[in-house]
Order: sequence, then structure tokens, then C-alpha cells
Amino acid sequence: MKEKLHGRLCEQTEGSLAIVCTLLEKARFKHILELGSGEGGFTAELAFFIQKQSLDCSIVSLDEDDRNNTKTFLDELAEQDFPVQFRQETFVDQPERLEKYFVRSGPVLVLCDTIKKWNELDIVANWLESGDYLMSHDWGNDPVSGGITEEQAKEIEARGFERIEPALWAEYYWICFRKI
Ligand SMILES: C[S@@+](CC[C@H](N)C(=O)[O-])C[C@H]1O[C@@H](n2cnc3c(N)ncnc32)[C@H](O)[C@@H]1O
Repeated sequence: MKEKLHGRLCEQTEGSLAIVCTLLEKARFKHILELGSGEGGFTAELAFFIQKQSLDCSIVSLDEDDRNNTKTFLDELAEQDFPVQFRQETFVDQPERLEKYFVRSGPVLVLCDTIKKWNELDIVANWLESGDYLMSHDWGNDPVSGGITEEQAKEIEARGFERIEPALWAEYYWICFRKI
């Protein structure tokens, strides 16, 4: 489902926001790195939630396209003290260090919502430390398993991840992993 949040497209299944917000409260991330901001509707909604709940967490969101002035929109939120920063760049040409985006001071969540997710996965898997999380969706065309096949999920696990409550996430077409 595609819905407009704060006038911006949010390309997520209905209900995914609530489940991600539950995770934010539970896991108490210090940093979120979103790969693929799109128009920024989902990013903004997460930033609003973080601010409302006074969570100590900030978001760096990047996209190679400045879709419909995502930068301007997210920069305006940042000026109003929403914990979000937009970077217009292509992720993944070569292994970069996570420190490019923030100085780690606690658990990290990477929200992977680009298009060729396998490209990003190996870099992210190398960066993340035990207790960090990776969330993603649309890995393939299998609607039953939430856009990811069992084989694909196993390939991700082989990179040092465990699946978190797979049935729950599959309902929202996302999959969530924790680095072991
Ligand atoms: C499905 S959309 C993101 C939707 C957004 N997360 C939302 O919830 O509304 C995917 C985005 O990833 C961006 N993208 C794809 N590959 C990328 C890459 N390697 N680096 C940065 N952005 C990328 C595209 O420009 C596109 O805006």
C-alpha cells in the first residue's frame, strides 16, 4: 500500500509503521540508517515517533535521487529539531565505514529499502555488530513469505544474523534480523 504521510509518499504496507515503532521502543536504537528514503514519508513518520516518545535515537536517511525535494523536506524537519538528516548519495559502490554516517554510541538499525538489496547486504553485514538489527523488504517476488523466500532468508542468516519473530514481520511484508 502507498499512503501519504505529512504530504509525502510512504511506500510501505499498512501497519508496518506500527510494528517498526514497537521495535524502536523495545530495542532502543541509538542510530537508524535508512537506505532508500524515497519521498521521505516513512522517514518523517519515524522521526515524529522518536521525538514524541523522547527516544534517544537519530536517523540518517539516504537516497541517490532527491525525489520531490526529499532533502528540503527532511532538512526542514531537522531545523525543527526532528532527529533526521538526509544525504543525497548512492550507497554501495565500495565498502564504506559506518562511521561515515554517525559515530556509533549504541545499537544500530539499518532499514534497507533500496532496490538491489543483495548489493547492500554484504557491506551492512560487515558493519553491524552483535545486537544490531537489519530490516528489509521486497527481496523477491514471493508474496507469501513477505517478499523473501526461505532460501533468501537463510542466505542472510549465513552472514551472521538471526530472524526475529518471522511470522509477525511477514504479515507486513518485512523481515527483521538481529546480528548474532
Ligand atoms: C522503494 S523506494 C524507498 C521507499 C521509502 N523507503 C518509503 O518507505 O517510502 C527505493 C529508493 O531507493 C533509492 N535507491 C535505490 N538504490 C539506491 C542506492 N544504491 N543508493 C541510494 N539510494 C538508492 C531509489 O532512488 C528509491 O528512491
